[in-house]
Amino acid sequence: MKRRAFLRTGLTGAGVAGLAATPLAGAATARTLAPIFNPRRYDENGPVRLSSNENPLGLAPSAREAILGGLDEANRYPGAIGALLRETLATRLGVPQNQLFFGSGSTEILRVAVAAWAAPGGKLIYAQPTFEDVPDYAQPFPYDHVKVPLTSDYQHDIGRMREEAKKSSAPSILYFCNPNNPTGTLTSCDDIEAWVKEESEQHLFLIDEAYFELASDPGYRTFIPWVADHPNVIAVRTFSKVYAMAGVRLGYGVAHPATVQRLRPFTTQNQPNHLAGVAAVASMNDGEFFNKSVHTNNEAKRIITDTLSQLDIEVLPSQTNFIMHRIPGELADYNQRMFDAGFNVGRPFPPMTDWSRLSMGLPEDMSRLSEVMWDFRKKSWI
Ligand SMILES: Cc1ncc(COP(=O)(O)O)c(C=O)c1O
Repeated sequence: MKRRAFLRTGLTGAGVAGLAATPLAGAATARTLAPIFNPRRYDENGPVRLSSNENPLGLAPSAREAILGGLDEANRYPGAIGALLRETLATRLGVPQNQLFFGSGSTEILRVAVAAWAAPGGKLIYAQPTFEDVPDYAQPFPYDHVKVPLTSDYQHDIGRMREEAKKSSAPSILYFCNPNNPTGTLTSCDDIEAWVKEESEQHLFLIDEAYFELASDPGYRTFIPWVADHPNVIAVRTFSKVYAMAGVRLGYGVAHPATVQRLRPFTTQNQPNHLAGVAAVASMNDGEFFNKSVHTNNEAKRIITDTLSQLDIEVLPSQTNFIMHRIPGELADYNQRMFDAGFNVGRPFPPMTDWSRLSMGLPEDMSRLSEVMWDFRKKSWI
């Protein structure tokens, strides 16, 4: 049955582009609707949304067409697109297909890893501040939470994390968010690799590379090549950021095949959802959109970083689509003033309570925001 569905949808070598081009009602609709597509820049209550590290460009035009064309298959279970997605991604990453597993966003990959590694006496060791989902997902399990403050240069404190890991004889998780959310900073890959080489296999290195495609530091590397020889490494990636699919939901993990088997009882069947699958395949084949995404993000960062530097406001070096900058006074007051000026900016990230996390919008949004910042300076608010 899977094979029949596969043939009928035409999801073969021609891929999703072929699917969108088939003379089906959905494909025609795609062509008709594509030009009027208008990605949403504003929250429902008005302000430009610069709070959730999303991609302001909206979906790639190719992904949009693929989704509209893919609606014709939305009543079927997604076996065929799952196979094509796995094949396309494996080729792109240069890994065997059995190293891949999928989730509804990379947050689900994190949840699965946390659930699968839980054991009495195990520790969950993570930076402070870092992405909250991992500690949140650990709540139902008997993890001993160990928060390790970032170093003075905003890296994960590997020395202290190692000391903590040594204290645990039960399977534990060492969560690395690299680049780190909310700081946007990198932790030395050399240092993490040195630890991976020496650590026992029962401790899991959960390496969150959500912003991988946006990072440009020459010393930054993925941990995907490590999984073949290290069953205790999982690299976690997402289609939410550079591919602008945050609302469509698709993430993946890359791990040793034995680790993928270990995680399997905790994953859900029938991943990915069909529309996410067609959009992801189309996006991966759309080099133009990828380049535009990276370029737009860099341009937006340049505009706002220049402004903050002219205003002599401290900014952390960002390898992501957000920047962390210092603010004087109360974050709640600053956020309210930004809201009143038409911008929804980040939430509190304790203990960095006098810092604001700002997600990148379109370059024109950042130019407008720069004007607002100068106005705030005139009013002595920043
Ligand atoms: C570091 C990090 N990991 C994972 C995620 C989850 O993203 P998603 O579930 O959309 O793939 C995010 C979202 O912002 C993130 O910042």
